[in-house]
Amino acid sequence: METTLVLIKPGGVQRNLIGEITRRIELRGLKITGLKLIRADRKTVEEHYAEHRERPFFGDVCDYLTSGPIVALAISGPNAVRAIRMMMGATNPVEAEPGTVRGDMALSIDDNLVHSSSDPEAAAIEIGLWFPEGTVN
Ligand code: CMP
Repeated sequence: METTLVLIKPGGVQRNLIGEITRRIELRGLKITGLKLIRADRKTVEEHYAEHRERPFFGDVCDYLTSGPIVALAISGPNAVRAIRMMMGATNPVEAEPGTVRGDMALSIDDNLVHSSSDPEAAAIEIGLWFPEGTVN
C-alpha cells in the first residue's frame, strides 16, 4: 500500500476539471485519503519545488501554483505512486499518451493540469508538506 500526492493546478480548477480528475482516480480503484481546496502559500510551493530551485522555470512555476485555488489530494492504494504517474501522463502534455489526464486535457507544459509525486520517497515528503495534519483512513 502506498500514498501519493496529486495537486490539481490553478488551470485545472479554473476549467472545472476537479470532478473529471478525481473520477478517473476513483474509477481506477484508488482511494482518496486527503482532499482540500486551498490557496497555496509561496513558502509551501517553494519547498514543494525545492529540487527545481536552480532551473530557469522555478520562479514561473511557483508564481503559477500560487495564482489561484488548487486541490491537494492524498491518494492511496497498491502501487499508487506509479499508477498515478501513468494515469497523469508525461510532464509535457504533447508527449502524454491519449487516455492520460494530460494527454486528454492539456497541451502546455506550463499548465500541465496536475502534479504527481515522482517516487515513494518524494511522495512521503510531499504528503507531509501538504497534509501536515495527516491523512484519513
Ligand atoms: P510538475 O510535475 O508540477 O513539476 C515541475 C513543473 O514545472 C512541471 O510539472 C511543469 O508544469 C513545470 N515546467 C515548466 N517547464 C519545465 C521543464 N522544462 N521541465 C520540467 N518541468 C517544467
